[in-house]
Amino acid sequence: MEIFVVPTASATGSVAAGILAAVVRSKPDAVLGLATGGSPLPIYKALAEHSVEMGAVRGFALDEYVGLPAGHPESYAEVIRREVTVRLGLDPANVAVPDGGAPDPRQAAADYDAAIARAGGIDVQILGIGHNGHIAFNEPGSALDSRTRVEVLTERTRQANARYFASPDDVPTQCITQGLGTIMEARHLLLVVSGADKAEILAAALQGPVSADCPASILQRHAHVTVVADEAAAAKLA
Ligand code: F6R
Repeated sequence: MEIFVVPTASATGSVAAGILAAVVRSKPDAVLGLATGGSPLPIYKALAEHSVEMGAVRGFALDEYVGLPAGHPESYAEVIRREVTVRLGLDPANVAVPDGGAPDPRQAAADYDAAIARAGGIDVQILGIGHNGHIAFNEPGSALDSRTRVEVLTERTRQANARYFASPDDVPTQCITQGLGTIMEARHLLLVVSGADKAEILAAALQGPVSADCPASILQRHAHVTVVADEAAAAKLA
């Protein structure tokens, strides 16, 4: 595992964008795993500054809420469209997000897992980490070999994400998330973390026991992990 510690959240974006730009230059139709939330936004902004052709890049979002109306501005489909597809000039036909409005979300989750496999797997999976150690929406207790599936969001995660919604009650209670087993099949995991509020969980994830209690700890078992953290988030690493 390689760990880069940089001064600011914006610098996490520059470092991670440099890694992604190099991957896309050497493989123009690379398959990127796309995270939402606040942590990866500096990456997408910095990547837009690179003169790298992204038209053939393929993307798979990590997760999506279940039950938001189509086009809801906080659905991850919309966030990915705004922040990634449009900003970076990806072909919308090449970008997939789990279908949180599907009549059968369980089937949609299984189909999504199969679509990732059909694409040849993910070259680089961008990840953020939740305060409880979740990656994607794999909350504590998720099986370490779990596949893409429907999950119930914890209250803590709903509260953390309430900042994006008019009222905390508007945050959906369920999601479709790539599983930990699915994420572990990506060839390279790129975790970006910023802020003092993530320092404790980052240390637990990278240096504590590997356990379903802290889903991100599974990263310790992956052969190719890059962590890019700002100084505040890295403060409790030994
Ligand atoms: C987002 C996702 C989540 C976030 C995590 C951290 O697609 O899968 O695991 O990465 O909740 O969110 P932020 O970056 O907003 O602190």
